[in-house]
Amino acid sequence: MTTTKPAIPINSPIIGEEERAEVMKVLESGALTSASAEGGEYVRRFQKSVESFTSARYAVAVNSGTSALYAALLALGVKAGDEVLVPSFTFLATANTVLLAGAKPVFVDIETTHYTMDTEDLEKKITDRSRAVMPVHLYGHPAQMDQIAEIAEKKSLSIIEDAAQSLGANYRGRATGTIGDIGCFSLYASKVITSGEGGFLTTSDDALAARLKMVRNHGMIHGYDSAVLGANLRLPEMEAAIASVQMAKLPSFLEARRRNAVALTGLLEGLEQVILPSEGGECEANWSLYTVALPENRDKVKDYLASNGIGAAVYYDPPVHRTPLYSETEIGRVALPRTEWASRHVLSLPVHPRVSQDDIKTVASTVRNALES
Ligand SMILES: Cc1ncc(COP(=O)(O)O)c(C=O)c1O
Repeated sequence: MTTTKPAIPINSPIIGEEERAEVMKVLESGALTSASAEGGEYVRRFQKSVESFTSARYAVAVNSGTSALYAALLALGVKAGDEVLVPSFTFLATANTVLLAGAKPVFVDIETTHYTMDTEDLEKKITDRSRAVMPVHLYGHPAQMDQIAEIAEKKSLSIIEDAAQSLGANYRGRATGTIGDIGCFSLYASKVITSGEGGFLTTSDDALAARLKMVRNHGMIHGYDSAVLGANLRLPEMEAAIASVQMAKLPSFLEARRRNAVALTGLLEGLEQVILPSEGGECEANWSLYTVALPENRDKVKDYLASNGIGAAVYYDPPVHRTPLYSETEIGRVALPRTEWASRHVLSLPVHPRVSQDDIKTVASTVRNALES
């Protein structure tokens, strides 16, 4: 089967001369990675840029967002017999890493304004075995962190924020990923900045930061002295070099995304069959994805956009609990009506920095035409 790349794809990495020059420096240095506890020169430089951008005391670079979530669970001591509360309306990694840590993911429904964890359902799903909660800042819109933090405090749960999609998003002026115990980010190619693959964690807890550095490096500090279980989760130096350059470009990327999101909202407003995304009062989204809901005709609109060169995409259908890995077990046999609704009706439209104002007009008029066709 041949597939043509859409003229306006849903996402597109922006890699320039600066990234190429830094990669060349790494190649010329010959130091492609470092198994030292603190990481290589470029890893440390990247971590510093994250610390200054997010105001977290510590950033720990790893080789994917999945590794970040897994490292967070290991560092917090989550183990077999424990339960971790997660949404099902997310990428698989949120729940899969709980299974990888030997614990049980317990699925919580979402609210349908921003598609993040519903706090009433969260309270209902807590048991004596609950150990941690993993809110996801889906599409780059912050979850309801005040309410989640209050429930977590009352029930002695750790908070791992899945901030894979939300670098640059803020909740009451604080960077997402710095509100709970640990924040987990992804540098995958579709994210607001990328090194191809990659990820990092943020925390302001001294002991957790030290543990996370051990977990990413098989527990080693000085040679074979592992006292905690870890794995090789290290970010290679070339990826760290790319990620450092991308961090410097992040503010301009975020500005372009916001400009596009605002313009698209202006052009789509008033359409009865489309529910537009919005920012909650205390929230600043990073517009990682601009996601509308089309309660009547999502798939028809998606196909129409695709046939007109616009890469609209559905995240996530099926939701995690409906994938065979989960649906065939007791973990997946759970009623999540709002998750099911969202998975049938959401559609993400392109607003990434390569999308021009003319492209935005094309996207909006094509959506209108699709609804009228
Ligand atoms: C919500 C969410 N969690 C976790 C991940 C995992 O990140 P990665 O693909 O870098 O492993 C992703 C991204 O793909 C994601 O979108």
